[in-house]
Amino acid sequence: MSKWIKIYFSGYVVIGVIYILIVSGIQLCGTFPILLISETGNSSHIVKYILREDKETMSYERNKITFENIGPSTSRKNDMLTHNGALCPVFEQRLGNNIFQFASTFGIAKSKNMTIILNKNDRINRIFKLAIEVRKDTSVCNSFKVRNEKLSATHDKNLTNFNQKESFRLRHYLQSWKYFFPFIKELKKQLTFRAEIVNNVRENIVKILHKYNNVSSYNTTLVGVHIRRGDIVKSRNWNVATPEYLIRAVNYFKDRYKNIIFIVASNEMPWAKKYMPSDISVEFIQNKAEVDMATLASCNHTIITVGSFGWWSGWLAGGEVTYFKWPAKQGSGLEKRMNYTDYFYPGWIGL
Ligand SMILES: *[C@@H]1O[C@H](CO)[C@@H](O)[C@H](O)[C@H]1NC(C)=O
Ligand SMILES: *[C@@H]1O[C@H](CO)[C@@H](O)[C@H](O)[C@H]1NC(C)=O
Ligand SMILES: *[C@@H]1O[C@H](CO)[C@@H](O)[C@H](O)[C@H]1NC(C)=O
Ligand SMILES: *[C@@H]1O[C@H](CO)[C@@H](O)[C@H](O)[C@H]1NC(C)=O
Ligand SMILES: *[C@@H]1O[C@H](CO)[C@@H](O)[C@H](O)[C@H]1NC(C)=O
Ligand SMILES: *[C@@H]1O[C@H](CO)[C@@H](O)[C@H](O)[C@H]1NC(C)=O
Repeated sequence: MSKWIKIYFSGYVVIGVIYILIVSGIQLCGTFPILLISETGNSSHIVKYILREDKETMSYERNKITFENIGPSTSRKNDMLTHNGALCPVFEQRLGNNIFQFASTFGIAKSKNMTIILNKNDRINRIFKLAIEVRKDTSVCNSFKVRNEKLSATHDKNLTNFNQKESFRLRHYLQSWKYFFPFIKELKKQLTFRAEIVNNVRENIVKILHKYNNVSSYNTTLVGVHIRRGDIVKSRNWNVATPEYLIRAVNYFKDRYKNIIFIVASNEMPWAKKYMPSDISVEFIQNKAEVDMATLASCNHTIITVGSFGWWSGWLAGGEVTYFKWPAKQGSGLEKRMNYTDYFYPGWIGL
């Protein structure tokens, strides 16, 4: 009799143990995200920033995973197998614009398994160590039909709505991260500055660190600053960043990091020197555009004002980026062409 009771009870014990295991298992799983969040709540600002970026771009993150599964090494084979067409970027204006034109055409080509055709002499190729094939002769592009974007800084879904067996030239500014977001890893690989530029930058940075030799480079936070004024001060379209913006942005970083050196590039140096806050360690640089951009890109974080030169300096640096929140003048043509969600990279901080 007692034997049966024992078995009876031990059955309950086994069921009980299983029950406890299951419930605690479920609870354990449930607490993981909470643990993560409470940990990140105490830890650095960077982590919170990454979480926010993920939330805002959830659908793009999903795309990224799908696309990356295809893998870059097989895509050329696929092009040949499927006889897809090619895309030619149409380069207009200066460096920042050119990088948008390249990056977006690159992204669209990748998303449609197409080839991108670049000329050896394109500025993009002279500055960056591209990992794609470049050609001596790109006259074939002249026979391709042109597709124009609708608005310059708004993601145009219709621009990419074409048959990938055909070939096109994609024209105008294409200033939205949404064109290339699923391929940012591959894009970053393409946008590696050439060795001459990198050496030049390294020398400049070492000089700056030496000047502040009481700060070890290991512990120093470099914040690149791009102040765009000059040509756009009188623009009907652009607002230029104010001295107050610079103060807000500098304070943003001062509140979060120690031993900061700000490195400033500008197309209006006298203004930059006058209005950059002076109670900080600040250095001004003035080199060729690509060296300035590469120097800012090698900093830990970035303060940008307006314009595509700053945009790419911040993107390439890959840290925190603050931007001037209201770049388009009210009632201007630019205001109609620019969608801030499409234009500003997710996670960047508008001040
Ligand atoms: C690109 O090629 C891959 C592999 O053949 C295929 O799975 C994918 O659907 C293609 N993508 C497009 C947009 O055609
Ligand atoms: C989409 O692009 C095609 C080809 O460029 C054009 O004919 C059509 O009008 C565009 N549609 C919209 C809604 O803009
Ligand atoms: C580095 O030295 C300068 C001048 O000697 C001093 O003003 C500054 O506070 C020092 N910086 C740090 C981070 O120690
Ligand atoms: C970095 O800074 C921290 C505190 O700010 C200090 O304890 C540490 O010794 C520094 N490390 C180096 C390599 O200078
Ligand atoms: C800044 O960036 C450099 C180079 O990427 C890195 O070695 C350094 O640790 C970074 N500094 C801080 C404080 O994160
Ligand atoms: C900007 O584009 C997004 C979609 O990316 C859209 O939801 C939003 O309404 C647009 N904003 C404006 C001001 O047109």
